[in-house]
Amino acid sequence: MRLIRLSLLGLLIGGIFTLPLLTAQAQAAEIVFARDIQPILQESCLKCHSRGKYKGGLSLESRSAVLVGGESGPAITPGKSAESLLIERIASADADLVMPQSGNPLTPEQIALIRDWIDQGASWPEEITFGFPQATVAPRRPAVPEAPAELSNPIDRILQPQLADRSLLTAELVSDRRFARRVFFDLVGLLPTPAQLSAFEQDSDPNKRAKLVQQLLDNRRDYADHWLTFWNDALRNDYRGTGFIGGGRASITAWLYGSLYANKPYDQFVRELVDPIPGSEGFLKGIVWRGLVNASQAPPVQAAQNISQVFLGTNLKCASCHDSFVNQWKLHDAYALASVFSDEPLTIHRCDKSTGAVSQVAFIYPELGSIDAKAAKAERLKQLAALLVRRENGRFARTIVNRLWAQLFGRGIVEPIDDMDRSPWNADLLDWLADDLAEHHFDLKHTLLLICASRVYQLPSTPVKEGEYVFAGPLAKRLTAEQFADAVAALTGVAQPATPAMLKPDGNGQGGQAGAIAAIDGERTHVRAALAFDDDLIRVLGRPNREQAVTRRESAATLLQALEFTNGSTLDRIIKQGAEGWHKLYGSDRAALIQQVYLTAFGREPSGTESAECHQMLTEPPTRESIEDLLWAMTMHPEFQWID
Ligand code: HEC
Ligand code: HEC
Repeated sequence: MRLIRLSLLGLLIGGIFTLPLLTAQAQAAEIVFARDIQPILQESCLKCHSRGKYKGGLSLESRSAVLVGGESGPAITPGKSAESLLIERIASADADLVMPQSGNPLTPEQIALIRDWIDQGASWPEEITFGFPQATVAPRRPAVPEAPAELSNPIDRILQPQLADRSLLTAELVSDRRFARRVFFDLVGLLPTPAQLSAFEQDSDPNKRAKLVQQLLDNRRDYADHWLTFWNDALRNDYRGTGFIGGGRASITAWLYGSLYANKPYDQFVRELVDPIPGSEGFLKGIVWRGLVNASQAPPVQAAQNISQVFLGTNLKCASCHDSFVNQWKLHDAYALASVFSDEPLTIHRCDKSTGAVSQVAFIYPELGSIDAKAAKAERLKQLAALLVRRENGRFARTIVNRLWAQLFGRGIVEPIDDMDRSPWNADLLDWLADDLAEHHFDLKHTLLLICASRVYQLPSTPVKEGEYVFAGPLAKRLTAEQFADAVAALTGVAQPATPAMLKPDGNGQGGQAGAIAAIDGERTHVRAALAFDDDLIRVLGRPNREQAVTRRESAATLLQALEFTNGSTLDRIIKQGAEGWHKLYGSDRAALIQQVYLTAFGREPSGTESAECHQMLTEPPTRESIEDLLWAMTMHPEFQWID
């Protein structure tokens, strides 16, 4: 019985040649890799022979890696422990040779186990590997579980079993007011006006929340103004600054705004960035830095880094100078992708020193197809674009739905969002949303509507907690710099005028962003923060300099602190001007002023205590200075600064 089992095992994993040995060794106890060998490797070997550390060139991450071996060739010969280098090294009496090289030596029992394991064919289940995690590329369509009819949204149906202790059917949802504030900020980046709020609260349509979401998504201008910020960060589209002088950088503002305005299908959007059309070339061009730069900053390498990060959620940056220590990518992978964008063959540079080797041209997921190295660059870009967006590339859709989810919930379904090879907290949700997006012609608004209409999106928010993440609805989010600036504009009535520099680019191609979109949505006398240049306020609140792709704003740097630390004049000026406006309207009516300011800032009336406090803060009749104090207090208030 046992012999039969062993022979079968041998056949399965070791191939036919282990059989005679098995018979000879039948006396030895049967070795089970996961039980007997894995703990030894993990305890004594892997820290020097896995995950970017391959001492002696040897990876002990998988059976195939061990068979390939290191600098001295195969580490084991299945069935023949006596001929296996690995045994020679762990059993060596020579202190210079014995493995592990440091720490406790293996015990005679452990050495015997490894010897028997090799003699029995060195079985090692394929699914056990110790390398970097690697997510599947192929799409997957999980079935949506049955659920009561009330739970119609597929997101809720997939998540319902997870939230069984807090049933989605009975969990209390946020109030209309909070829902409206949340969805306004999330979809169009704006504070709802008191009139919009009260109309929504008074609407008796049971379907009014989904209706509001749809209305916001249908508002092309507000939607484009808001999402412009997200894509400017991700695609490094700035209005002026590094690289522009001398034509070393090109704006994609008009193309980007037009794409968002038209809700261009996401696959087409990416195709036009990778295989550029007039107006979108700036993305691939990257930043042509002046002066001497590191080889890893050459434009083709930048392009490879950005495309893999932004569209595929993987990090090639660390592999642009040396084999990566944080994921599976090697220097030659980064150069192979970079070569797609290069006019000439690229010589691989390791930490800025040429290795002399000319790079291959290849895509980082060869299972999706190849790129013709001999084709002209324009043709290679076309081929790359096609590989990225093809339906078989599940990773492409997963990356963007994960980003949208992270924007709305404060955290991705898989984290880090730019390094998506770890386990998602719900793989079915991620895979289903991704496949659903692809099926709906990559219409991002379709996915946004689905998410915002789900019950889980309407759960009360939870604060960010330390420790292992457990999904329980949206996390509370701080306003971004642009959301904050636009909300302050709404509260003070002080909008940002479109300056001549925003309307017309200068000789270096800097500025002109508001002018660039005039043909799409009319000329503007005033602009939202997304279209404004950086100022001290926007910068201190976290708009990145857009020299690197940034796919999420850090909520952690506290807005309140940031504001207190800055002696910037921008907010001060806006509030002074705003106080004047409020003074003109309500200078003689303190109660009405307080009421209106509360409705505008928080969408609600002040409580009794709040009203009393404000009455104290304001003189009677209110002076401009005391109104300034009130406006400062409102803008510094967490209720103003947080989406909860
Ligand atoms: C502290 C780091 C460290 C640990 C732990 C360690 N090794 Fe090594 N290993 C090295 C270094 C360094 C080399 C290369 C120099 C040499 O060959 O001695 C090496 C080389 C080897 C080689 C030879 C590779 C070749 O092709 O030349 C084998 C086989 C090997 N190790 C096996 C093991 C096994 C099995 C374990 C666990 C029992 C282990 N090592 C634990 C550092 C380590
Ligand atoms: C601009 C080039 C460049 C980039 C990009 C880069 N590195 Fe490095 N890295 C170096 C150089 C140079 C060394 C020095 C050692 C060498 O020559 O290998 C080094 C060494 C290291 C080492 C030490 C290796 C050892 O054996 O002790 C680690 C770890 C490392 N890098 C991690 C990273 C990670 C993680 C990233 C991505 C976030 C990264 N590197 C990106 C240039 C770079």
